[in-house]
Amino acid sequence: MFTGTAANVLGLSLLLRPYEGVICAESAHVNVDECGAPERILGSKLLTVPTPDGKLTPGLIGPRLADRGDEHRVQPRVVTISQVTELGTCYTLAELKSLGEFCRAEKLRLYIDGARLANAAAHLGCSLADLAAQADVLSFGGTKNGAVGAEAVVVMAEDLAADAPFLRKQQGQLASKMRYLAVQFQALLDDDLWLRNAGHANAMARRLAEGIHGVPGARLWQPVESNAVFVALEDPAQIARLQRDWQFYVWDTAAQVVRWMTAYDTTEADVDTFIADIWGAPGE
Ligand SMILES: Cc1ncc(COP(=O)(O)O)c(C=O)c1O
Repeated sequence: MFTGTAANVLGLSLLLRPYEGVICAESAHVNVDECGAPERILGSKLLTVPTPDGKLTPGLIGPRLADRGDEHRVQPRVVTISQVTELGTCYTLAELKSLGEFCRAEKLRLYIDGARLANAAAHLGCSLADLAAQADVLSFGGTKNGAVGAEAVVVMAEDLAADAPFLRKQQGQLASKMRYLAVQFQALLDDDLWLRNAGHANAMARRLAEGIHGVPGARLWQPVESNAVFVALEDPAQIARLQRDWQFYVWDTAAQVVRWMTAYDTTEADVDTFIADIWGAPGE
């Protein structure tokens, strides 16, 4: 696949009938950042759930199942989670297991948006197979791990795999020279380059979080469990000043939360320059 959005649409389209819906966190990329692609292209309703940290739990999903069997209501069929979440947090293996067990007991399918799956594996110190074990289908991001135009959809449920090539072609995701894109996965997977890249990105985020510890008016908003650092900044002028030289999102305008991302190619010098700017930013 070329993009994470397309991977999510293909992955979910393997799992849904026309009257079925997808339970996701309100903050999920499928809900917020895909320009309505799941609704427009899949034609499926997203059933959103507010979460404090981007993570779904059986307790949060349960109430969304109340209307099952009512023909007036869209029928929840898939739970989609993001690993890493959009808030930079990671599901632990125990949390994944409990979600997987819950989904199987409730006859729900589990889809994992793994745009940053490599960062989760690096953070948790587990294998990609450990992270995939509970899913029916998942994506494995190449782009955020150094690849260009290459995302993978991994179909764990054997009964679904045969449909994937046809849906991929129909959704415009089969390049005529696909091998030149796909070979990037060989480069990433052959000698654990994916893990070194993700581990490095995570380490740069930790360096950033440590470097801003004690900055007046700055407070970590989420734990740093990947390559994302979410910070609430008291002084709006500080945000504006930093944005003059650095590109980043203000994640929550009301709470003045910013999102700072690191990557496989972020250097220690990049991080240290940014940290110095943050310390220098107030009052300038
Ligand atoms: C959680 C998540 N899923 C999917 C994507 C992929 O998005 P894109 O369609 O831009 O490749 C991203 C990229 O930001 C993401 O953060």
